[in-house]
Amino acid sequence: MPVFGAAIDAGANLFDTAEVYRSEKPLGECMRRDRRSVHIVTKFAPYPTRLSARSFHKALDGSLSRLGTETIDPYLIHFPFSPLGVSRLMDRFAEIARAGKVRAIGVSNFSASQMFVAAKRLERHGIALAANEVQYSIVHRDSEQNGVLEACRKLDVALIAYRPLSGGRNRQDGSPLDKALAEIARAREKTIAQVGLNWLLSKDERIVAIPGATGAEHLRENVGAVGWTLSNEEVAALEQVTR
Ligand SMILES: NC(=O)c1ccc[n+]([C@@H]2O[C@H](COP(=O)([O-])OP(=O)(O)OC[C@H]3O[C@@H](n4cnc5c(N)ncnc54)[C@H](OP(=O)(O)O)[C@@H]3O)[C@@H](O)[C@H]2O)c1
Repeated sequence: MPVFGAAIDAGANLFDTAEVYRSEKPLGECMRRDRRSVHIVTKFAPYPTRLSARSFHKALDGSLSRLGTETIDPYLIHFPFSPLGVSRLMDRFAEIARAGKVRAIGVSNFSASQMFVAAKRLERHGIALAANEVQYSIVHRDSEQNGVLEACRKLDVALIAYRPLSGGRNRQDGSPLDKALAEIARAREKTIAQVGLNWLLSKDERIVAIPGATGAEHLRENVGAVGWTLSNEEVAALEQVTR
């Protein structure tokens, strides 16, 4: 609860959860105690046993009830693997959207080609794909190589970057990247985590970073990653050591 309030005080208003994280209920409890307006991202797990429209509605209703909210924005498919295939997964999600309980629909861990299939199918229903949540950090840059970042640009879809601190490994261990991050952090009077997050956000305006933090101190530090911009030279220096 103190971290939730500290997050909103600091200016963070988007919380990422999923039915499989078991954090919907505690997050719902926080929202009941602190009524300030926030955006909630939660995710549907498309297990092979969940194929019927009914199972999708039931899962969403479960998430809404645990969160104690009436809408979710956006609601994501947690991963693409389902006997239904991407197109039919999107048909099911479109049905859910029609019920008016989600403000936007997105995906997570989808490849670029799966994103194009998903976006095309949703278009048939008059719905735009809102987001793809994938792993992306200055250490883990697959999205740049595998076409996901480019697909987000082409489709105008938000890239929600999970593990944006590489699981907390953005700290000094003597690698050229850490030395470059530390040097910029020192010159800017920022921390290494702030420089890493700012670099991530500098890649594209569609990128939303969702750093995990269990304490208010890390949380405030991470919010301090925005409101300033790395120079082109600083970005180039980081590119050079990560290439
Ligand atoms: N869609 C998916 O499949 C998927 C998969 C994985 C994760 N996610 C989402 O992404 C979120 C973030 O991922 P993550 O938590 O695995 O990785 P992360 O955000 O890269 O790293 C979190 C770790 O970094 C530490 N940390 C936070 N701020 C820090 C700072 N300023 N300086 C140094 N260390 C710091 C945290 O420690 P403290 O806890 O001590 O603050 C925690 O150990 C998750 O909470 C989840 O919502 C989604």
